[in-house]
Amino acid sequence: MPQFRVTRFTPSLTSMFALLLTAAVPSFVAAQPPAADDATGIPIASDTVRQTCGSCHRPDEAGRLSRISFRRTTPEGWQQTIRRMVTLNGVDIDADTAREVVRYLANTLGLAPEEARPAAYEAERRADDQPYDDAEIQQICTQCHSMGRVISQRRTEEEWTLLMAMHRGYYPFADFQAFRRSGPPGDEPQPVDQAIAHLSDRFPLHTPEWAAWSATRRPARIAGVWVVRGHAHGIGPVYGQMTIAAVPGTDDQFTTETSYVYARDGRQVERQGRAIVYTGFQWRGRSLEGPDDTDGLREVMMVERDWQTMSGRWFTGAYDEVGLDVTLERVTASPVVTGVQPASLAAGQTATLQIRGANLAASAGAPNVDLGPGISVLRVVATAADRVDVEVRVDADAAVGRRDLFLEQAALAGAVTVYDEVHRIAVTPEAGMARVGGIRFPKQYQQFEARAFHDGPDGESETDDDLDLGIVDVSWSLEEYAATFGDDDLQHVGALDAQGRFTPAVDGPNVERSGNRNNVGDVWVVATYPATPDGANDTLRARAHLLVTVPLYLRWDPTAVERP
Ligand code: HEC
Ligand code: HEC
Repeated sequence: MPQFRVTRFTPSLTSMFALLLTAAVPSFVAAQPPAADDATGIPIASDTVRQTCGSCHRPDEAGRLSRISFRRTTPEGWQQTIRRMVTLNGVDIDADTAREVVRYLANTLGLAPEEARPAAYEAERRADDQPYDDAEIQQICTQCHSMGRVISQRRTEEEWTLLMAMHRGYYPFADFQAFRRSGPPGDEPQPVDQAIAHLSDRFPLHTPEWAAWSATRRPARIAGVWVVRGHAHGIGPVYGQMTIAAVPGTDDQFTTETSYVYARDGRQVERQGRAIVYTGFQWRGRSLEGPDDTDGLREVMMVERDWQTMSGRWFTGAYDEVGLDVTLERVTASPVVTGVQPASLAAGQTATLQIRGANLAASAGAPNVDLGPGISVLRVVATAADRVDVEVRVDADAAVGRRDLFLEQAALAGAVTVYDEVHRIAVTPEAGMARVGGIRFPKQYQQFEARAFHDGPDGESETDDDLDLGIVDVSWSLEEYAATFGDDDLQHVGALDAQGRFTPAVDGPNVERSGNRNNVGDVWVVATYPATPDGANDTLRARAHLLVTVPLYLRWDPTAVERP
């Protein structure tokens, strides 16, 4: 049992957990070869994996390693386990070997696209955990981390059982917090047993999806030119292009040149990056904006099976909170339209529309641009390969509703929306969160977005037929969310800028505050439309709740697998 040599124990908290672990997870768990009649595991052919992991995870005649051969997960999932092997189980592994192990395991014991998609928000580091369809299991497993970590795994029943034992060994609070009921033992199964039964049934090692994907999986041939369309929350649509080139001598690594523009303010961005594609479809990249960019943007995307589109999230920030939702589409010889700015037009209005896309120049004559009934294209103002500007007039009695755009063979469904009135605005996220920082810990920012809506044909707000008129300029302000008498959070939590971005105040005790409190608290974020109202009566307001809280003092999940 080399991993628990007594000489390595020092009187630390970690060793106490390790002792608990020996009680909860018998030593054979890592070391014993899988039972000979157990045909379920997936053999491991990589010498690197066998050498690095095989001393504790013994191979059997079928080439399967204990534990490892009995579960599948994302590259991030594998990286996280390997990190624990290093931090808690004393494994010595250099960075290059670790990358090779992650790559082999993510390819051989990975997820199929259909399995990875519902869990994509985990790898994309989205702040909002998606609801899981079994509320009880969700309640048990989300006390400490997201459900995304759970649903991005496939295991045998024994492996789900051992995972729970690992939790109880290393994190004994799991029992009190979630795994066991308090009070006298009854006949009902404990929550942890309920979870094992549920997960073994729902997320088994072998699935038809994985069998099918394993049969067809191959390196994705995605070198070429792609159009990029994105949305930066609160900032608006982004249009551009990415040129992907294969790294010579590899079949899963790429370099990228990306250029894009923020359509609302015209800000132009150029980036250079590198990416690796795991399991034939999981794009993990990082790109830099010039030589002074030290953080870069991480890129997490799924390549679709037809290699024609990929989508996901590009993000940065100390808490991964700043980002873009993106979709990339492969460019062939034909024109593609990716978006129109502005995306909504008032009846009776004359406006210049920017049509964004690729290969647009050849088909850009005014007669070729068709925006549907009630919108006349007056003239083409400017033409480039990726952009055509047209002047349009909307009839005063044009019907309210979305219009598809056709530009010769290229089409974009619902490209622009005609409206007669803005009925309401809405601010998202409805419940935002920021973390104080800047002294000992980094700040977590929160960007808000205001969009305008028309009530739609039924004339009622917040029904399915409402028309989204897109992001709008508003006046932003903060108001007290009165929770106690003399609540003073507003003076301390931080500031909101003119673009709706909240910057929290510094971390640590504040001597100016009663009780020497941190600069935490909660406030309302208020948007007023139009931004410069001419009459006070016809302004629209919307608000969102903002919680400003303490930093994350300890992060359990800083996975990043994009460096090839
Ligand atoms: C020094 C011994 C040792 C080495 C070497 C080792 N492990 Fe482990 N491994 C353990 C122990 C002990 C456990 C059970 C406790 C735990 O899960 O942390 C374990 C558990 C696991 C599990 C099950 C975890 C789960 O989520 O249920 C996986 C998967 C795993 N190891 C992968 C690896 C990989 C991959 C390597 C090689 C990079 C490796 N291990 C190298 C000791 C080791
Ligand atoms: C008491 C807090 C707590 C609860 C409750 C909890 N987890 Fe965890 N879980 C953790 C921590 C901490 C880690 C990180 C372990 C590590 O890699 O160091 C983790 C890691 C994991 C992993 C990744 C393991 C690996 O080897 O990479 C899975 C899968 C997981 N948990 C599943 C579950 C499931 C399923 C439940 C509900 C039945 C659950 N967790 C409930 C704290 C918890």
